[in-house]
Amino acid sequence: MVKNYEEKIKDLLDKMTVEEKAGQLRQCGPSLVGAFEVSFEELLNMMFDGRISQEEFGRLMSTAKQDFREEDLRAGRIGSYNGIKDARTVNRLQKIAVEETRLGIPLLFGYDVIHGYRTIYPIPLAESCAWEPDLWERTGRMAAREATAAGVHMTFAPMVDVAKDARWGRVSEGAGEDTYVNCCYGESKVKGFQGDDLTKEDAMAACVKHFAGYGAGEAGRDYNRVDMSMQRFYEEYLPPYKACIDAGARAIMPAFNDLWGVPCSVNPWLLMDVLRKDWGFDGLTVSDSNAIAECVDHGIAKDRSDAAVQAIYAGMDLDMSSDVYHENLVQLVHEGKVPVDVLDRAVADVLRLKFELGLFDHPYKTSAEREAQTLLTKENRSLAREAAVKSMVLLKNEGHILPLTPGTKIGVVGSLAKERAEMLGAWAIGAEGEDCVSLVDALEERKQPFEYFENVQDALDFDGVIIAAVGERKDMSGEAASRACIELPKDQEEILKALAGAGKTVVAVLLNGRPLAMPWTAQNIPAILEAWHPGVEGGNAIADILFGDENPGGHLTVTFPGASGQCPMYYAHINTGRPGGRGKFTSKYLDAPIEPVYPFGYGLSYTEFEYGDLKVTPSGDSLEICVTVRNAGKRTGSTVIQCYFRDLVAKRVRPVKQLADFAKVTLEPGEYVQVAFSLEYSRLGYYDMAMNYVLEDGDFEIFVGQNSQDCLSETVTLTF
Ligand code: GLC
Repeated sequence: MVKNYEEKIKDLLDKMTVEEKAGQLRQCGPSLVGAFEVSFEELLNMMFDGRISQEEFGRLMSTAKQDFREEDLRAGRIGSYNGIKDARTVNRLQKIAVEETRLGIPLLFGYDVIHGYRTIYPIPLAESCAWEPDLWERTGRMAAREATAAGVHMTFAPMVDVAKDARWGRVSEGAGEDTYVNCCYGESKVKGFQGDDLTKEDAMAACVKHFAGYGAGEAGRDYNRVDMSMQRFYEEYLPPYKACIDAGARAIMPAFNDLWGVPCSVNPWLLMDVLRKDWGFDGLTVSDSNAIAECVDHGIAKDRSDAAVQAIYAGMDLDMSSDVYHENLVQLVHEGKVPVDVLDRAVADVLRLKFELGLFDHPYKTSAEREAQTLLTKENRSLAREAAVKSMVLLKNEGHILPLTPGTKIGVVGSLAKERAEMLGAWAIGAEGEDCVSLVDALEERKQPFEYFENVQDALDFDGVIIAAVGERKDMSGEAASRACIELPKDQEEILKALAGAGKTVVAVLLNGRPLAMPWTAQNIPAILEAWHPGVEGGNAIADILFGDENPGGHLTVTFPGASGQCPMYYAHINTGRPGGRGKFTSKYLDAPIEPVYPFGYGLSYTEFEYGDLKVTPSGDSLEICVTVRNAGKRTGSTVIQCYFRDLVAKRVRPVKQLADFAKVTLEPGEYVQVAFSLEYSRLGYYDMAMNYVLEDGDFEIFVGQNSQDCLSETVTLTF
């Protein structure tokens, strides 16, 4: 039962001064101050561009502490904090807000809980490869229990930016290239984070991001422009945000990028027309960090005051870290440039979420004791390990090298096999590297004899199987980490080439945050396990798979191109009038194959699965699709049955495949199952040139398979 707080909100607004209202729209932090004259952000830039050394940066950072701006807080000029991570500090600041400000309005604490709070599970791109909504919800629930114990009320997640360009570093933070997978992933995370009652102590509001289309930045370069047809925007990029709003997400974060030239933070069409009028959203919009101020850099606002006016009118409520509202709104209201009712609408959204979270009745939702009891428990580690195993994708297993039999002589190469913190991936800000189990730790824990070689040259005479842990360091993906070249880093590939050159039997374990262009590795390394950045239990999960305790069942949610120059490369592409092929005048590259190295949906197992008896039957207003799947191998395993469709002829060209549904099954050896999908006709439509959503009679090809390339198919003629 959704409670109605509108009366209470109105009563409070009637009592509030303009200064107090502007204060509710200010989110501070993390604000670090120390023995440095510049801002923390500028200090970071100085280290990044070499104006100060890493040592000097470290020395200055050792003097840094959080500036909580307590005088502003007492004066009612702060409504929210970002990036504070402990119960004691949260409760101390909350006490000031509740007991020392004029109206006692509680604070809202936000934090980036992207893939776990302290028990870090696999990065979202990895976890999406599990294709298991139930798992996604369970890990979200665990993250909420931990984060709320530490005082978090709202997480800036899930990120559901459809990402078709592997050069973009933030592909690591979402559920890959497919619209439907992102919808399912986002919906599950919202349910996991928020639970069934936001007033409960272990519930945190989901703030879905980045609204909208951030993953379509031109050239895969972070923060870059986004410009596409409205049809494509509605068909491919908007649906996951709507799925999260429909699942009850109570906050949303407009993206840094512009849409058709208007930055999302000041885009009234996006924030008022689409989000509030069309979708009926009455939650909170939270700016991205400093995003309102950056509208001046975008060249859409002439100064910070202008940015404040545009943002508040556009429907941007909470100003994260820029202080543009704090510095300008009061004067703008007194000058009549911002009407009080425009200000009140934004403040009402903030107050509503605080009421919904129960903060007025229970402002202290956690305690240091609860925090200590909740973080990094055995159960949480066990779930993180399950998620890591299910996220890993077996890409190659020539000669069935894997699973390794006990007693196999094992060598290990690659610093990523030891560096615990590299398991965490991007946005693991609440965790410590020492929380992680590395591959070497796992081998030691299993009492598995092995020899670790610091230098690959020392491994060339080793007469056993070599496990080579190679990939990207965690800071090579995530925010502001786009790569123009998405190959395995040179030094990593050289490890593999040295081993292959010496005729070694190599198992490559990839630890990376994005699809990699690695045709040589795919060609020359007999066994390849994609382990991504797998979180605190990553080493154990890798060992569980390598030694056969677990049978890998992950399937890719992103395409692995053969060359960086092919980006963006994705399965749901259009055919063109000259589909790439052997002919000269076809859509292809002279210097790269047109097929991906590994396609969307791909993943091997230690067993084999057979698909058969596809039946497609029109029935009422949906297609009933049925297929038989059998485990034809010798061990129990899971597979992801994927159902795609193609509209063969339409008034706008349609993708050669679109994922319609999926199901994951686990089968014993010899066992078979009939899997049925019901595909509503409404899913088969598209937007015509006038932006009408149309369902057109005609032929539709239905595909079912274990990846986007190897499918059974049947064509049906439909009349709607
Ligand atoms: C960052 C990110 C956003 C994050 C926010 C707060 O710039 O774009 O995803 O939630 O700042 O840390």
